[in-house]
Amino acid sequence: MADTLGMAAQLAGQSLRFGWYFALNRALDWRTDQLGKTPRYKPTRPVPTMQQLLADRAQLLMADAMAVRDGLYPPMDDDGASPLRYLGRVRQMFADLPEAYARRAEKDATTAKAEAAAASVPDYYAQDFHFQTGGYLTEDSASLYDVQVETLFMGAAGPMRRTALTPIAEFMRGRDQRQVTLLDVACGTGRFLRQVRLAYPAMQLKGLDLSQPYLDEAARQLKGLRSAELMQAPGEAMPLADASADIVTSIFLFHELPPQVRRAVTAEVARVLKPGGLFVFIDSLQMGDKPGWDGLLEAFPERFHEPYYRHYAIDDLDGMFEAAGLQADTTSTPFLAKLMVRTKTPPV
Ligand SMILES: C[S@@+](CC[C@H](N)C(=O)[O-])C[C@H]1O[C@@H](n2cnc3c(N)ncnc32)[C@H](O)[C@@H]1O
Repeated sequence: MADTLGMAAQLAGQSLRFGWYFALNRALDWRTDQLGKTPRYKPTRPVPTMQQLLADRAQLLMADAMAVRDGLYPPMDDDGASPLRYLGRVRQMFADLPEAYARRAEKDATTAKAEAAAASVPDYYAQDFHFQTGGYLTEDSASLYDVQVETLFMGAAGPMRRTALTPIAEFMRGRDQRQVTLLDVACGTGRFLRQVRLAYPAMQLKGLDLSQPYLDEAARQLKGLRSAELMQAPGEAMPLADASADIVTSIFLFHELPPQVRRAVTAEVARVLKPGGLFVFIDSLQMGDKPGWDGLLEAFPERFHEPYYRHYAIDDLDGMFEAAGLQADTTSTPFLAKLMVRTKTPPV
């Protein structure tokens, strides 16, 4: 039976959420301008109009609501924090802006390097991605991350992540969730794991990330729900047995990896997946995916510290996955994301 009520709840909730983050996005822009005009990078490639962006954003919202109506997964409930704590985070984002803005003007992305934890992570990682204060290495950064990302994407980060739930639902048809293990590589603050847990209360969930503060936040996001096994480790050397996962997901990780690390993580994904297992990849659009939007991809690493993004945007992801034994299933481009569904080649 169609879950029309669930769909209505999803649409209403998402419309409010969009309005809220759209307002935050505009307010942040206004505040940034107040801090002093630095000339905005002007891309040489075409950019979409706000109307085109909003139309695509609406399509994402609609597809998510239809999936809820069709019973593929429950409505979105993406924040385990109390409203008070959440508002504190919004305030903290605005309070952090002057410092982050000054560093952006100086192209200084070195606050992470000063953290004690920097000594035990790879060099390519110990930097301030998006000029985030403390990089990924502090509790404050973990607490701010989601509000910042949702503000940047006008509330679409959660819905973009949720597009991974559809191929997972298809894979799960006829399977017993208690017998299925899902690993989220670079799970960050656990927003996606939370969605998976709400959809599959009995599935074995694992999350891996290099940042302990982000994993701590992930544990908080899962509070009240059945927990997941969270491990602090690099994606390029996972402390997991061969063929131990049925499903591996990776969301918004690959654009932050140097090209050779991208390949090492891909090899690890293929190693830990069971033959016939499912790999669901979500990351940024690449050049040419939506040609009229290429200017956005050109401007992104100019505005935010994203040292490996330019290469990511032209990398041969299909070739990389294929070479590791991850066979092409489907590829689509919901809003600003690229969703690639791959299957680990079964033995012949
Ligand atoms: C842009 S965030 C995305 C987080 C999360 N998947 C999400 O959807 O919000 C990138 C994440 O990748 C993690 N990360 C970066 N390099 C990594 C590596 N080599 N191994 C494991 N985690 C890594 C960071 O700590 C951070 O949590």
